[in-house]
Amino acid sequence: MGEPRRAVRRYRFVGDSAGGEERAVLVLRVPEVLDPQYGMYAWPCAVVLAQYVWFHRRTLPGRRVLEIGAGVSLPGIVAAKCGAQVTLSDSEELPQCLEISQQSCLLNHLPHVPVVGITWGRISPELLSLAPIDIILGSDVFFDPKDFEDILTTVYFLLEKNPHAQFWTTYQVRSADWSIEALLYKWKLKSIHIPLHSFSADKEHLASSSLPSRHTIEMMIISLARSDGT
Ligand SMILES: C[S@@+](CC[C@H](N)C(=O)[O-])C[C@H]1O[C@@H](n2cnc3c(N)ncnc32)[C@H](O)[C@@H]1O
Repeated sequence: MGEPRRAVRRYRFVGDSAGGEERAVLVLRVPEVLDPQYGMYAWPCAVVLAQYVWFHRRTLPGRRVLEIGAGVSLPGIVAAKCGAQVTLSDSEELPQCLEISQQSCLLNHLPHVPVVGITWGRISPELLSLAPIDIILGSDVFFDPKDFEDILTTVYFLLEKNPHAQFWTTYQVRSADWSIEALLYKWKLKSIHIPLHSFSADKEHLASSSLPSRHTIEMMIISLARSDGT
């Protein structure tokens, strides 16, 4: 078996020119490993979540962001470029994913962004020693129902420690039977659905990628439900 094919893909985010401001443009490059056994690239969900982050770029300077299941980390890299203090994470059992996160940082001249091993559902020393967080990012982390509760356990743990924080997440609709409603209720979390058109993500081409339009992608924000159940 030969070495997996490696490439670099370019993404270009363009802002509106509201208020007479010059049109903002952000160009990023992320690595791709193209191999059926070992595929790592920005998934369609990542482009949509990165667009949400980009859309809210003016609110990001100084905010503390953690990306979970980051892979090539497109949303986290956008957040870092927009002035957030970003930490990237992926499973501690998947060193190749942690390595590709690091490569993404280097490709985008962000050598100081920390990349840490955080495995969903595991209360590890790395998880316990994280600095305070305002935003958790997770694109295409809800791809296998066996992991859903582990993901929400980790998110709940982080939100309990940072009650004002929000989990911004995108998922691909792969089966009409999958739902996290019961788990959200169990873990005292609530979610709000964010329509794609509200952040200009309902386009055929997003950040120079046509991938998201070929899939059904949804965006939601998860936070702690208050004690009155709202
Ligand atoms: C479908 S990929 C999405 C990657 C990236 N967020 C994106 O959208 O391009 C799922 C990611 O979850 C990570 N992952 C899988 N199982 C995990 C676990 N148990 N704990 C933490 N991360 C995990 C994988 O390594 C991979 O990076």
